[in-house]
Amino acid sequence: MGESVRERGQGDKQMITIRSEEPADVEVIHSIHQSSFPTEAEARLVDRLREERKLALSLVAEVKDCAVGHVAFSPVSVDPQSPAKRGLGLGPVAVLPEWQRKGIGEQLITRGIEDCRRDGYSFIVVIGGPEYYGRFGFRRASVFGLANEYGVDDPFMVLELSAKCQDIVYPALRVKCVTTSFTQRFPDQVFHNQM
Ligand SMILES: CC(C)(COP(=O)(O)OP(=O)(O)OC[C@H]1O[C@@H](n2cnc3c(N)ncnc32)[C@H](O)[C@@H]1OP(=O)(O)O)[C@@H](O)C(=O)NCCC(=O)NCCS
Repeated sequence: MGESVRERGQGDKQMITIRSEEPADVEVIHSIHQSSFPTEAEARLVDRLREERKLALSLVAEVKDCAVGHVAFSPVSVDPQSPAKRGLGLGPVAVLPEWQRKGIGEQLITRGIEDCRRDGYSFIVVIGGPEYYGRFGFRRASVFGLANEYGVDDPFMVLELSAKCQDIVYPALRVKCVTTSFTQRFPDQVFHNQM
């Protein structure tokens, strides 16, 4: 069902639809990331995740039948391994510059979280601005003893999707994942050790 885009000024309300990626979206998704980030790294990352069948969830935001935003979720691996702890990494997420700050990113991420929960994942990790992701319930992952293979602390955040985060993460659990920030900080390690 469509939801309205947050109004700025007196403009008409426009309806936004969040839907799963379709085969015809490949080029426009690339172009959304290329236009929203300083480099093409994120656009290429999404292409590669798709080629390697690691796009566990890929959502497109549409206004008037035009794709204006996209979010990807890809599997992360945990160490020690546990079948009960299935998680995804959020990112990259992008909204075309002219459509930013209208609530589209929020709708993409909210719907993504709902879909991950529906699909039985235990947690989502992200590397990003704590202020932005905090509004969706993400918390500093180190609070739960959750580390990552790159040693990133503050911006590394987790959202638990099952009853208690303690059931999901515990001291010495490490996550190996792909996110936007990793591509910027660790360009050579992006696909290292992914599930
Ligand atoms: C981040 C992004 C996807 C958000 O999409 P959006 O549709 O603009 O987001 P929303 O409209 O739902 O929310 C915008 C709010 O989040 C804030 N916000 C946006 N990006 C933020 C960030 N990286 N850190 C902190 N706050 C952020 C804005 O200040 C804005 O708040 P305000 O309008 O009340 O001042 C979009 O800005 C984007 O594509 N940016 C470039 C790519 C990028 O940086 N992706 C995320 C990497 S972690």
